[in-house]
Amino acid sequence: MHWRKFDKYKNAFNFIEENKPALIVEYGSGGSTLHLYNCLKELNYGGRLITYEDSEQYRNIMVDEFPYLADIIKIAPIEFVDRAKGKVKYVHDYEEIKDVGLVIIDGPDYRVHRTNKGYPSNLTTNLEDINNYLNKHVPYFIDGRSGCINYYNNLNYSNFIEQHWPVN
Ligand SMILES: C[S@@+](CC[C@H](N)C(=O)[O-])C[C@H]1O[C@@H](n2cnc3c(N)ncnc32)[C@H](O)[C@@H]1O
Repeated sequence: MHWRKFDKYKNAFNFIEENKPALIVEYGSGGSTLHLYNCLKELNYGGRLITYEDSEQYRNIMVDEFPYLADIIKIAPIEFVDRAKGKVKYVHDYEEIKDVGLVIIDGPDYRVHRTNKGYPSNLTTNLEDINNYLNKHVPYFIDGRSGCINYYNNLNYSNFIEQHWPVN
């Protein structure tokens, strides 16, 4: 599928075309990683992509099928920030992403990382860490994950790119 047809990321792609972020950081790999890769390749403005993935098994599936994603999908373990509240983060270095111009959150699989009481987790806190580290509001896009959207909305982060919900 051509990346422009990956409809649910339409607004993120529009943002990329208009703003040409130097680095896109994605949390949670999948079809989106492939489309983002192809988008950057086609636009050819020098933009880079890093995708953090906690599952080695899933990374292997992706890289076996698309070997050119090997340098893009990096393993980062998940750590609980607050297990009772279901807050998790990908553990990685922030210095290596200091030129990030767009954050995309679609991971981890919350059913894999459960609270003390056995409920799925519900929040990926890396955007908060990035904004604190860089002392600015980095534009962000969240795939689904209403808990995450509400959390960041309540922090009054500007630069939220709303998801496009295809009508059909
Ligand atoms: C919802 S997926 C990310 C999808 C991607 N952002 C997209 O829109 O195509 C979130 C996480 O679920 C896990 N996951 C997704 N599909 C999987 C599969 N078929 N097998 C194992 N893990 C999977 C991976 O760890 C992945 O990072």
